[in-house]
Amino acid sequence: MQGYDNPQYWENKYSSADHIDEWYYSYQQLKSQIIHYFKQTDTVLCVGNGTSTFPIELYNEVKSELVISTDISAIATQQMQVHASDCVKFQVDDALNMNQKDQFFDIVFDKGCFDALSTSENRDDVIKKFVSEIQRVLKQNGKYLLPSK
Ligand SMILES: C[S@@+](CC[C@H](N)C(=O)[O-])C[C@H]1O[C@@H](n2cnc3c(N)ncnc32)[C@H](O)[C@@H]1O
Repeated sequence: MQGYDNPQYWENKYSSADHIDEWYYSYQQLKSQIIHYFKQTDTVLCVGNGTSTFPIELYNEVKSELVISTDISAIATQQMQVHASDCVKFQVDDALNMNQKDQFFDIVFDKGCFDALSTSENRDDVIKKFVSEIQRVLKQNGKYLLPSK
């Protein structure tokens, strides 16, 4: 995943027609393994969401209190805005310096963001910062879900 830690790589990708809409697994493929982690009372953060429909499908099924879906790419976020509602919000946000409240989320869902950042030349520092941000925004006993391949 060379260059995947570079925001400009993703802006270029999402502004072209050849980007993959869904990395690794779709919501339907993952559902049976993860659905039991989510409750209606949850606040959920989908970090590095890109153009994945995961947050929309999750909300349609679980009706979580609030699903915030973020990405560093303004283009991807803009593409997702058409799906926004009072309970599902799409925001441009840097996962390494999140514009999110402390201890606000019950669940952080990450399909591909950790993997992208872990390609950085400064991998150790970048991942340390990323994990500290996730810890900061998660409630005590909150969950970090990271499906990968
Ligand atoms: C491998 S893609 C996964 C996209 C989506 N989650 C999916 O499952 O299809 C990695 C995503 O992480 C985003 N990303 C990379 N660096 C980021 C950062 N520092 N903050 C937030 N998002 C970032 C990219 O823009 C890209 O959308």
